[in-house]
Amino acid sequence: MSAVKLAIIYYSTYGTNYQMAEIAAAAAKAAGADVRLLKVAETAPKSVVEGQDAWKAQADKTADIPEVSHDDMTWADAYLFSAPTRYGSAPSQLRAFIDTLGPLWQQGKLAGKVVSAMTSASTLHGGQEATLLGLYTSFMHWGTVIVTPGYTHEKLFETGNPYGYSHRQGEEFTEAAKTVIGHQVTRLLDVTAKLNA
Ligand SMILES: Cc1cc2nc3c(=O)[nH]c(=O)nc-3n(C[C@H](O)[C@H](O)[C@H](O)COP(=O)(O)O)c2cc1C
Repeated sequence: MSAVKLAIIYYSTYGTNYQMAEIAAAAAKAAGADVRLLKVAETAPKSVVEGQDAWKAQADKTADIPEVSHDDMTWADAYLFSAPTRYGSAPSQLRAFIDTLGPLWQQGKLAGKVVSAMTSASTLHGGQEATLLGLYTSFMHWGTVIVTPGYTHEKLFETGNPYGYSHRQGEEFTEAAKTVIGHQVTRLLDVTAKLNA
């Protein structure tokens, strides 16, 4: 059976979701997937990005990571999105990319893809679930198969969030966090492989 093609698509201003995407990519590669780690294009003005040291540092650090394209969306069997919350919604950078996908949606090229999502926030209950549910609403319009972690691993009772892994900015990535991210992505791969069989 050929390897599942997985696009891990992230947006990260300060690096949290970048780290989450990297942890997921390592787990997915270890599970035998064909992985593309892709960032969403920055839409904030250069002057704004360069006006914040942490934002600029993250942009410079990840300059070599390719930006997600429509070809990537067609290529992949499965998508794992990771993006922070912005007032309880996904960031406009990710929404802007999603809003370019109309032609693919219209041709049915997103239908049947398998998808999951992760998020982060700076506070507890700061909009994590609302952010994931907002993304999942769009994915339902695409006709994707949404795969959530639920409580299908014992460590989810430690980290919480059956909608998708969520991280608090600034906290360390514990072994439980890494396990749950790995579990979410391997579950996504397992379901995709079954659908593709
Ligand atoms: C414009 C803006 C709005 C935000 N809104 C929230 C919010 O509603 N709740 C919250 O807990 N954190 C909020 N945050 C904090 C971000 O979610 C946090 O910086 C992010 O999760 C860090 O992820 P990153 O390092 O990948 O950029 C906001 C940040 C910005 C810049």
